[in-house]
Amino acid sequence: MLNKKPSPCIMVIFGASGDLTFRKLIPALYDLVADDLLPPEFAMIGFARKPKTNDQFRQEMRQAVEEFARCKPINPTIWERFARALHYQQGDYHTPADYQVLLRRLEAIDQAHGSGGNRLYYLATPPEVYWPIIEHVGTMMCPTDTNNGAWSRIIVEKPFGSDLDSARQLNEHLHRWFREDQIYRIDHYLGKETVQNIFVFRFANGIFEPIWDRRYVDHVQITVAESIGIGNRGSYYEHAGVIRDIVQNHMLQLVALTAMEPPAEFSPDAVRNEKVKVLKALRVDTSRGDGTVRGQYGPGRINNELVKGYTQEEGVAPDSTTETYLAMKLLIENWRWAGVPFYVRSGKRLPRRVTEIAIQFKMPPLLLFSKRTAETIQPNLLVLNIQPDEGISLHFSAKTPGAGDAVQPVIMNFSYGTSFRTPAPDAYERLLLDAMLGDSTLFTRSDEVEASWALVTPVIERWQEGGGSFIELYRAGTWGPKSADDFIAADGRKWRTL
Ligand code: BG6
Repeated sequence: MLNKKPSPCIMVIFGASGDLTFRKLIPALYDLVADDLLPPEFAMIGFARKPKTNDQFRQEMRQAVEEFARCKPINPTIWERFARALHYQQGDYHTPADYQVLLRRLEAIDQAHGSGGNRLYYLATPPEVYWPIIEHVGTMMCPTDTNNGAWSRIIVEKPFGSDLDSARQLNEHLHRWFREDQIYRIDHYLGKETVQNIFVFRFANGIFEPIWDRRYVDHVQITVAESIGIGNRGSYYEHAGVIRDIVQNHMLQLVALTAMEPPAEFSPDAVRNEKVKVLKALRVDTSRGDGTVRGQYGPGRINNELVKGYTQEEGVAPDSTTETYLAMKLLIENWRWAGVPFYVRSGKRLPRRVTEIAIQFKMPPLLLFSKRTAETIQPNLLVLNIQPDEGISLHFSAKTPGAGDAVQPVIMNFSYGTSFRTPAPDAYERLLLDAMLGDSTLFTRSDEVEASWALVTPVIERWQEGGGSFIELYRAGTWGPKSADDFIAADGRKWRTL
């Protein structure tokens, strides 16, 4: 459990009437208060276009907490304390005068709560208004000033840009007013316990690291499968597709954590330096086609329920060519990984939700058993289950009891649920607390986000020019397009059955 308390601050959420605030940010803040991890002077103010009073905002946020908080049932005393810390201000993101009003409110809240002038700005709006908010906060709220020793930090939600150029421009825009150490680019995957455990598994154990390289690993498969469709986010998803929505951020973070070298120390820059090196050494293998397989879900059944196809979803063009499934073969050009393929795949409307990293080791160099037995031997496999069955499993061969030399694959399992018996905090709890503590280890640095865009932008451009893989329709509730199986089979391998 997290145990350090940050200094008091006011968190300013831009986009306070949106879904993210309702489902994630406010429930996470409540849980932090319920776990006594925030100082009593903490306060937050929501800023958004819709007019509402503080009281209306608090009532809405109560619903959010009731529905989405981890600590349930709601404790009335804690809720009362938390509700007193919540404020709301209606405003327009483009109007400087509204930020002046916000500034006065912040000063008044500082006086009332004793929050000491520290500010945590959170961009939870659609990305189109990031620019004016950054500029107005930057010019009016003196973020780089130490302001009597007080700090200002800004958290930027994804999507951070839509290609390499726009990500660079957004970085430049932020750097006009904020130093890099004040900028916290969120990738909520990094806040997940199981994702943080990749560091611990690799670097707090002595036995895995020596075999974690091209000499012992045959290939790696990383899967982010979802059974949900795009819900009511059609207009966003049409421009994003799975490559921007999942692959550029969450998926490449999983690749970087799996492949990085041990950092010299566990500090934000040392860790991120190593991740950047991996991202810069990554390339899409284009020795066969463009190294990608694209798919789009058609109608089908999930959990026995009929679901629509992608082009029937609200906000989606009937002739849309946006991909909802993508598989890629990545190579890492460095000494540790040269020649070891990293196959990644992600899709919506697949049969079930599962995120995992599977490390497939090479076969033993010599098989000593009878030909029949040798044929049944399978290579060792280590699976890091990120969600939903959080845990780690090691697959190896064991002798079947009885006469003869028959061998059978068996699994050794570690499960978070049985080993720890306490529900993990939500990713946003960890990330909000880290930002308040000034620890950016689990946030992406400017060069990191640019390196990941540098990998995917040429792929997107090839698609836009009409090249690259074609888009194959797959039935909702199946494991994606048939061509994804052919794609990996061409290398003599197959996707893991999940
Ligand atoms: C978000 C994507 O970043 O991650 C969503 O925009 C996706 O499309 C979600 O569903 C997945 O997150 P999680 O935590 O449910 O794996």
